[in-house]
Amino acid sequence: MIEFTLNGKAVRVEVEADTPLLWVLRENLRMPGTKFGCGKGLSGACTVHLAGAPVRSCQLQVGALAGQAVTTIEGLAAVAADSARTLHPLQQAWIEGNVPQCGYCQSGQLMAAAALLAQQPKPTDADIDAAMSGNLCRCGMYGRIRAAIHRAAELQAGAGGTQVGVQMFDPAALTTRGVA
Ligand code: FES
Repeated sequence: MIEFTLNGKAVRVEVEADTPLLWVLRENLRMPGTKFGCGKGLSGACTVHLAGAPVRSCQLQVGALAGQAVTTIEGLAAVAADSARTLHPLQQAWIEGNVPQCGYCQSGQLMAAAALLAQQPKPTDADIDAAMSGNLCRCGMYGRIRAAIHRAAELQAGAGGTQVGVQMFDPAALTTRGVA
């Protein structure tokens, strides 16, 4: 039995200690927001936060997590600097900027960007390029991603505007949707 904190809540999983966190998130904990890209630590699609730092969940054995705090895309809104918002500033900026094309890499992009903004609230283009260089986007949305990170920095600083409306995805609905 391995216990750790996931998005602010204690979780327990009964898996082999060398099971990658990515598998545990998707298969055992039904948190499908974190994506499998390459399984080799190269794509960044599986990026989550471990104690606030971006890590590749495909490369992290769950046995190493005992007592530690993991945040996934499903928990990102809760770490927003402005608790009055229901989205993280990055999520709002992503929607405003219509950032994704296919969308597959975007949860990893958002988690990498969130770690950057937590460390560097007003990043330069160079800061963004350095922090995001390990997150690949096969649609080539790098320009939009960079612009959205700048916009999120504005939002985080309070130069906001109205939060856009969005219907939040409920993974629990997957178990019943479409079943007769
Ligand atoms: S799936 Fe983990 S880095 Fe590509």
